[in-house]
Amino acid sequence: MRPPAPGGRLEPGDLDRLRAGQALQMDHYGGGRLPFACVQAKGLVQHMVPLDGDDAGQVLEVMDASGGYASACLGAAHPCLQPAFRDGLERGYVTDELGSLERTLLLEELFGPGGRWADRFPGTAYHASGRNSGSEGLELALRLALESGFDRRRLSVKAGREARRTVLAFEGAWHGWTGGLVPLLNRRHYRLGLPPLSTEPPYHLDVAFLPFGEPELLERFFAEQGSKLSAVIVEPIQGDAGILVPPPGYLRRLAGLCREHDVLLIADEVLTFAKTGRFFAMTDEEGAIPTDVTVIGKSLGMGAVSTSMVIARRELSVRSSGAVSTSDLRPLTCSLMRSGLRYLAEERLIERAGPLGAELRERLRKDVVEVFPELFQEVRGLGYMNGIELTERASVGLTALRRRLLEAGVFVEFMAGAGRRTHGLRYMFPAMRIAPPLIAGEDDLRRIVERIREGTRRFVEAGR
Ligand SMILES: Cc1ncc(COP(=O)(O)O)c(C=O)c1O
Repeated sequence: MRPPAPGGRLEPGDLDRLRAGQALQMDHYGGGRLPFACVQAKGLVQHMVPLDGDDAGQVLEVMDASGGYASACLGAAHPCLQPAFRDGLERGYVTDELGSLERTLLLEELFGPGGRWADRFPGTAYHASGRNSGSEGLELALRLALESGFDRRRLSVKAGREARRTVLAFEGAWHGWTGGLVPLLNRRHYRLGLPPLSTEPPYHLDVAFLPFGEPELLERFFAEQGSKLSAVIVEPIQGDAGILVPPPGYLRRLAGLCREHDVLLIADEVLTFAKTGRFFAMTDEEGAIPTDVTVIGKSLGMGAVSTSMVIARRELSVRSSGAVSTSDLRPLTCSLMRSGLRYLAEERLIERAGPLGAELRERLRKDVVEVFPELFQEVRGLGYMNGIELTERASVGLTALRRRLLEAGVFVEFMAGAGRRTHGLRYMFPAMRIAPPLIAGEDDLRRIVERIREGTRRFVEAGR
């Protein structure tokens, strides 16, 4: 198949192949999958083809404002990754049983003396492991927390840890789809009928939930339940809940409370990694906010591979052979990460996301939210991780809105929203996520906003 340039139309047989190809993949959206296919991409531009409707087969030029679930920080086909593929392939495929040159180069560049992240995670105090996906990274983080309360010699709960049977998570959180993580998601939709945690003493465990970003509720919870906690798991900016940014001081206070109460702090930075104007969102004016375990993913694979990394205090580990994975920091993955991270740092793409992201939010406020107040209510975010919360009316028409946006030449994704929260806090509707690849410059961001505005105008005009 040789797709034509934007404006052209696919051969009917090719369109049928794309439709059949989509049908061969399991639909995880309950029948609500977008009827579009991407046939080519370079940088921020994707060539998309509608699979149904009057325009079926017509190639559209679409700007990517989402980066493939916020994972493609370098956009498509970035030249800095070409040599990395070659080097990675030539340096073997060893598993974690053996050392490897490529893994050494990556880990020393990050955690070794003078390394890129050594001020936050010095290799003398932290070690790292690689997994295939964010979900797997979070599974390992949770496992590290559970094992920390376990006496491996006696195969029993560690003396003194018997009362610490609670993990604190936050309402509206998303940490992944795998079995061990289901109990950390408070929404009924994600949990009902799926595996619970063990309820049998002495290994039983329960999860408590708090609304995110509410300092008083946090203080009260620790004062009342701190001695029962084993770990807290937090997204520094909640993603699926609708890009919720906590108030200043909240994350540092959380880290302080964990330390005071001898509770492990796990930061889920799978989504926030490299997007907020810094590599890590667990940062404030004072600098790094300390964590016991940090999980990074998505952008770490540079949009080329799916990978995650778990960075944990050295005293945290899993019983022998209990967390061996075929995919732990393989040379090819290490090579891609190393080249991509070096490029992001050298080009200062991380830093510029701070001020450019602030300008982007200002434009979204003025040119989108204020123009369509019946559809949008609030812009939130940091750096290149931004969201616009929809109104109830827009939430109902979300599929049609997405289609209009795509037709206007911009691809965005939508977050579920935190929904109903406890303690009388307001309902949080779904949010449009605007998290473009970090290669997007000022002009790109301006065009993204123009296209969002145009797509919304078409949605309003068509009445759907
Ligand atoms: C905060 C957060 N944690 C974990 C995950 C799971 O990552 P993956 O989809 O790579 O398994 C996601 C994915 O959206 C996420 O946003």
